Amino acid sequence: MRDPFGRDVTYLRVSVTDRCDFRCVYCMSEDMTFLPKKDVLSLEELDRLCGAFIRLGVRKLRLTGGEPLVRRNIMWLINRLGEHLKSGALDELTVTTNGSQLEKLSEQLYAAGVRRINVSMDTLDPEKFAAITRWGKLDKVLAGLAAAERAGLKIKINAVALKGVNDGEFHDLVAWVGERGYDLTFIEVMPMGDMGEYQRVDQYLPLSMVRAQLQERWTLDEIELNTGGPARYVRIRETGGRLGFITPMTHNFCESCNRVRLTCTGTLYMCLGQEDAADLRAPLRASESDAAVERAILEAIERKPKGHDFIIDRRSHKPAVSRHMSVTGG
Ligand code: 5AD
Ligand code: SF4
Repeated sequence: MRDPFGRDVTYLRVSVTDRCDFRCVYCMSEDMTFLPKKDVLSLEELDRLCGAFIRLGVRKLRLTGGEPLVRRNIMWLINRLGEHLKSGALDELTVTTNGSQLEKLSEQLYAAGVRRINVSMDTLDPEKFAAITRWGKLDKVLAGLAAAERAGLKIKINAVALKGVNDGEFHDLVAWVGERGYDLTFIEVMPMGDMGEYQRVDQYLPLSMVRAQLQERWTLDEIELNTGGPARYVRIRETGGRLGFITPMTHNFCESCNRVRLTCTGTLYMCLGQEDAADLRAPLRASESDAAVERAILEAIERKPKGHDFIIDRRSHKPAVSRHMSVTGG
């Protein structure tokens, strides 16, 4: 699958549910309304869609949400997708999770062929963690991380940089992941979805400032690593760990973008920062053959835009993209 700008689409991110057992302040309002169950694809339908993408050239698949591991029977889908690893059709199957189910599922994930997971954790302070996630418990996530390590999963921590919230503990986070051999990525707050009482303009902390702060204590060596995504990576000389910075508000990554995003309702977004989308559920449900759905995918890739235009509108405080991150899954 090659888009009009010559970019090969080899990476599919699939949001398997918009539901979550946390309510992170930058992601959801406390009284989120979720999609009606009838609009959500069954696990069998998700498997069929992923199969079509893999036939068309997707080599890497990431499951996201919401929280992917709270979807009932999710291990059925993960095991099915793992079959594509065994056949060699897929290079990698990864999961982005909040960690709440890892105590229970880490071993099963490894057995299914998952080797790497991204775990969202913005702070090491239990009280701050509770304040950010509203419903989350830090000790549960820490126990999940320990289980993931024991199971043999390689771990990357994603931390959203939040002004006035975790900006005092970036050094601690770097040291902590360094001791455990995890990688770490800082993420800038993105203007996605209405957040209720929280104003994203107030939370916004440019990663240039995070980086400047870290350089007071750590040596950051540039490394050439382009995953086709919005992260820029450095190596921390003192710990040997890898550190990423995801700055979605800048345009520096769109030219190498290799990914598209599928929601749990079968909507395909060709760009995280644009509203244009293709409905794959109708062609999927219209026939038992996958011909129509494959055609719809290829047509959609033809419309993949050159780049996004995120901005936080400072006057209206309205997000640039109205759907929540839990719909498109980061
Ligand atoms: N801005 C930045 N990151 C966000 N995430 C969720 N919502 C937002 C937002 N508005 C993060 C989560 C997780 C990753 C998948 O996306 O914390 O680490
Ligand atoms: Fe759930 Fe992740 Fe959103 Fe937090 S950021 S509410 S863990 S989906």
